[in-house]
Amino acid sequence: MSATETVASVHHVHPLPDSVPESEDLFAPPPRLKGQDGRPKPHIGPDYKAYLNEWVKTVGPDSDQWWSEKAKECLDWYTPFKTVRAGGFEDGDVQWFPEGTLNASYNCLDRHYYANSDKTAIIYEADEADESREISYGELLRETSRVANVLKSWGVKKGDAVSVYLPMTWQAAAAFLACARVGAVHSAVFAGFSAESLRDRVNDCECRVLITTDEGRRGGKTIATKAIVDAALKDCPLVEHVLVLRRTGNDVPITKGRDKWWDEECAKVPAYCPCEPMSSEDPLFILYTSGSTGKPKGVVHSTAGYLLGAYLTVKYVFDVHSDDKFACMADVGWITGHTYIVYGPLLNGVTTTVFESTPIYPTASRYWDFVDKWKATHLYTAPTAIRLLRRMGEEHVKNHDLSSLRVLGSVGEPINPEAWHWYNDFAGKNQCAIVDTYWMTETGSIAVTPLPGAISTKPGSATFPFFGMDVDIIDPQTGKVLEGNDVEGVLVAKKPWPSLARTVFRDHKRYLETYMKPYPGYFFFGDGAARDSDGYLWIKGRVDGDVSGHRLSTAEVESALILHKGVAETAVVGSHDDITGQAVYAFVTMKPEFDLQGTKEADLSKELAIQVRKVIGPFAAPKKIFLVSDLPKTRSGKIMRRILRKIVAGEGDQLGDLSSIADPGVVDDIKSKVAGGK
Ligand code: WTA
Repeated sequence: MSATETVASVHHVHPLPDSVPESEDLFAPPPRLKGQDGRPKPHIGPDYKAYLNEWVKTVGPDSDQWWSEKAKECLDWYTPFKTVRAGGFEDGDVQWFPEGTLNASYNCLDRHYYANSDKTAIIYEADEADESREISYGELLRETSRVANVLKSWGVKKGDAVSVYLPMTWQAAAAFLACARVGAVHSAVFAGFSAESLRDRVNDCECRVLITTDEGRRGGKTIATKAIVDAALKDCPLVEHVLVLRRTGNDVPITKGRDKWWDEECAKVPAYCPCEPMSSEDPLFILYTSGSTGKPKGVVHSTAGYLLGAYLTVKYVFDVHSDDKFACMADVGWITGHTYIVYGPLLNGVTTTVFESTPIYPTASRYWDFVDKWKATHLYTAPTAIRLLRRMGEEHVKNHDLSSLRVLGSVGEPINPEAWHWYNDFAGKNQCAIVDTYWMTETGSIAVTPLPGAISTKPGSATFPFFGMDVDIIDPQTGKVLEGNDVEGVLVAKKPWPSLARTVFRDHKRYLETYMKPYPGYFFFGDGAARDSDGYLWIKGRVDGDVSGHRLSTAEVESALILHKGVAETAVVGSHDDITGQAVYAFVTMKPEFDLQGTKEADLSKELAIQVRKVIGPFAAPKKIFLVSDLPKTRSGKIMRRILRKIVAGEGDQLGDLSSIADPGVVDDIKSKVAGGK
């Protein structure tokens, strides 16, 4: 077996390039990943081929064996596992390490507490910078234990779901880990969701307990978190207890018997709570993500497999070492926050960050002030934040030292080369590795990514699958794998990996239909992808109507709009936006009997936007709502979203074949509306 073949078989994908391809826009591993100037030597350096071949020698070419070795090495178990993996995509019943027992909270906290209880677990960067502080592993363990004991005193048992509706307070990590400690399944709802969205998610997983805060703080503003909870809970008959964290300390309504203050309850219980041994396959959390039918899906993650993915990707994708200070700027309410604020860094025993503010509060220097103040080694954010900062001007970043940084991550959507270069030049000062990490709620951890110190990068390409990820591109028409380079199709996985979501809560059929059935034998990511002539992967975006960024489904926005009493029909499409990557545009027709009663069109648009904010959350409001006389439809009545997408993209003169349209006249009406209103 040649060296190249060996590597290919471990990686289960097209081999990593043998030599660095010739290209102007190719970035070799940067200076700060060479283990010089007192910086740590990378786990995997440019000699990654030797590293990969070493595995093959020790564990063989099967990636399951690699996962198995890593599971033993990286996680602490009460009972060792015997079987590595059972099941596959065909039966949709994937299990990893089934006989093993362990506890997530123990792995994130106790073992590091015993090693060094004073080490900083969390940097809490408060909205007002001078309110920031550090929380040690000891303090986090005590706070987590207390919350766990409160949950226990309320009768929360192994397997019960607990809702967490918390903004970016450090106690969100304690809330997650408290659930895990007693074997409860946390179901976090992003605190930007409306009361109605919260209500649906709380009811869907039948929570009896909800954890929240009095108010939130972000960008100098106060958010009435508890008031949203109160509105949601009017229709959540099962909720008996609400634990309320005092964040601002302002007066908020309290429902006697139901609502209890976090600090008061925690003061009544011991500061240590033993961990409940959990089976590898016991669910760790539920996280709702958009569904193309409009109803969100409760994606369920397992304990051991998820933890392993979180651990390994933090270690290798970010090349994290024990003294590092990792800062993921996502929200804890999304998967990126779960894996890269809470679980991944804490499993590795490093310092993580809960960043309460925004990149531009009080000024567009906020990230850079933060990095210099704490000497952060890693920054992980989304292209939309990078584009926003780029637009604010380089003067906000130029005068900062930023020499502590080694790896800069990007996630959430494809990063356009301009933003990549800005990130590299100004934040990285051309000395950091940029990792464009592709993954999704359902993958649990990063799936396709460069390895800093090892893989040369191309701006805009997520490069290669992570170790053990058997990812490929297939032709969506034939379902066949597209061999070789210079191909484009849809992205699939050919083999399960440990942090794969196991099911959709109480709807396994939907899980199978969404991910396993579209291309039998494969897991379908839902994204288009291409492989270039050097074998590099380029992610092209969702092919199912979801809008990137907040992973909003256009169907969800349509469902929200249709709830308005006057709306007859609606079609929502995503289109390019310079800052947010994609923005949502809505087209609405009103019922003929709906009487505008003198309401101006602009006011009605506003009313409809409020409707979406109310049903989903403020972040989901369309950029523009067009009231039109009719929607373009086929003769059989199917709405032709393709045409709407082209018109908002400014390609109204290239609509192609319109022969299937029932009434071509509507196109002109829509074109003139868009031209006048965009
Ligand atoms: C998109 C977020 C291109 C993709 C972790 C995916 C990306 C969806 C990238 C998942 C990237 C995420 N390059 N596209 N580096 N990262 N995406 O579930 O369309 O909120 O399917 O998980 O974001 O969004 P989700």
